[in-house]
Amino acid sequence: MEEKVVYDFDTPISRLGTYAEKYDARERFFGKADVEPFWVADMDLPSPAFLTEQLRERIGHPMYGYTEQYDEVFESIQWWMQHEHQAAVDPAWISLSPSVVTTISLAIQSFTQEGESVAVLSPVYGPFFSCTKFNKRKVADIPLKVENGKFEIDFQSLENALAQPEVKLMLMCNPQNPGGRAWSFQCLEKVVELCLKHQVILLSDEIHCDIVYAPATHQSVLNIPAADEISVVAHSIGKTFNTSGLQSSFTFIKNSQLRSKFRLAQNRAHAGDINLFGKVALSAVLSPAGSEFKKQLVVYLQENTRQVCERLQQIEGLGVMQPEATFLVWSDFRAFGDWQTVFKKLIHEANVALSGGTFFGPAGEGWFRVNCAHPRSQLLPAVERMVSVF
Ligand SMILES: Cc1ncc(COP(=O)(O)O)c(C=O)c1O
Repeated sequence: MEEKVVYDFDTPISRLGTYAEKYDARERFFGKADVEPFWVADMDLPSPAFLTEQLRERIGHPMYGYTEQYDEVFESIQWWMQHEHQAAVDPAWISLSPSVVTTISLAIQSFTQEGESVAVLSPVYGPFFSCTKFNKRKVADIPLKVENGKFEIDFQSLENALAQPEVKLMLMCNPQNPGGRAWSFQCLEKVVELCLKHQVILLSDEIHCDIVYAPATHQSVLNIPAADEISVVAHSIGKTFNTSGLQSSFTFIKNSQLRSKFRLAQNRAHAGDINLFGKVALSAVLSPAGSEFKKQLVVYLQENTRQVCERLQQIEGLGVMQPEATFLVWSDFRAFGDWQTVFKKLIHEANVALSGGTFFGPAGEGWFRVNCAHPRSQLLPAVERMVSVF
């Protein structure tokens, strides 16, 4: 019997010299090149060694030319979705995509016209806004409500927005970044029902869906039959396996007309493929070995987020959302002055770089997001510094 691998997430590994954005962009975004970075959502935790080995094996062959979209890639995706998310997917529904943001942008181009609107529930991952604006569409921004420390959807406001004839697409972050909300099946069913009623296409961005903390569970829009004719579901290995730089994402579209429209936009942009190493990575990690890695990772991240929330909650006046999913902790600093003052204090007094709330839309102003996917020996002292400054 093979020995079970126990993953080490505790030992810090320097990323200096790798051009990691989280480190190398510190001067540009925070004006301080040595501030400790807990912002951009990738992990300072290593990908599994078996992935590195499989990439190394492929690198050993010295030709990196054009590569087929081979069956194993699609079979691995199919296996993962069934095994991890109880979603039976037909490989014909899958389009490979360099990134989820590429998929979002191409979906906007496929399903809306210039001047029309895209509905988003905010605060939410910044490119939901920026992709819409770059494509000359308008954002129909529906702020989420906070109830009992969690984001909830204001369904009346959502319906009012979807009922506007110029709203043609809704972008749903499921699970939700930055609030870490794992939307329930009933809640998603209601969203689908409203999209159907008002003939709005629904894009469910499920990039964070593998990192969910029990008793919460991920509910994929793939498992809502009523959504079959109107939905696009986007996923990636980027978050779960810390491979965002490999740019390997995949999108499911069940309806053949929507799929054709989306693939036409992919062909126009020549953006319907991923690179060779992305393919190797996809089939390596969407596997039983990847599932074991993910299981251990989720245990580590759950404890990190729990400890960070527990400690930050001790700061009087600070509000934190205990995430049900994601390695991110959304924190309300509005009691400590305007966001620019808090931003400076975080950087210059606590020596931590967090994601500023306005990246997530106007509703995020005054909030900051802590990335907890770090070894505890990096993360917890940074939290202690925040506690002593605030
Ligand atoms: C909700 C969400 N979607 C998409 C992305 C980016 O995905 P990709 O790198 O595949 O474009 C992120 C990254 O933080 C995210 O949080």
